[in-house]
Amino acid sequence: MTAGYTSCPQDERGLLDLPAWLSEHRPGLKVYCCGPAPLLDAVEAICADWPRGALRTERFVPRHQEGPARNVSFEVVLLRSGKTVTVAPSVSVLQSVQAAGVSVLSSCRHGVCGTCETVVVDGLPDHRDSILDDFERSAGDRMFICVSRSSTDRLVLEL
Ligand code: FES
Repeated sequence: MTAGYTSCPQDERGLLDLPAWLSEHRPGLKVYCCGPAPLLDAVEAICADWPRGALRTERFVPRHQEGPARNVSFEVVLLRSGKTVTVAPSVSVLQSVQAAGVSVLSSCRHGVCGTCETVVVDGLPDHRDSILDDFERSAGDRMFICVSRSSTDRLVLEL
């Protein structure tokens, strides 16, 4: 399939006619969208019934999170490193893991870039990122440890 690009400067052509472009999904169609949050929110709403994976958005600022994080201490077992760390309420999993001497790549530290993606072996993540969709969140098999926390007292990560 050939990728298509169209330039639609708002000051020349007004707001994008998203319903005209996106109201119906065609087999094989994939849309990648980045831009301001209101545009991404509108695109996600219009494409809500599209097949999983047909729409991918990229945010540059974190999405508003529903509800407060479960801001309590919890234990994280680092399977490959053989270490266990306690994550305090005011500290991220990433900071705790790095303080224990385990190297993890990171970049944005706001849950938008995906660099710190980590496999979850056991436990239930409290997803606070702006990357995963609802289906991916419910799978619970990976998390972004710069912002996400734990809904259980213990997480086991493949680190
Ligand atoms: S460092 Fe960017 S999502 Fe975690």
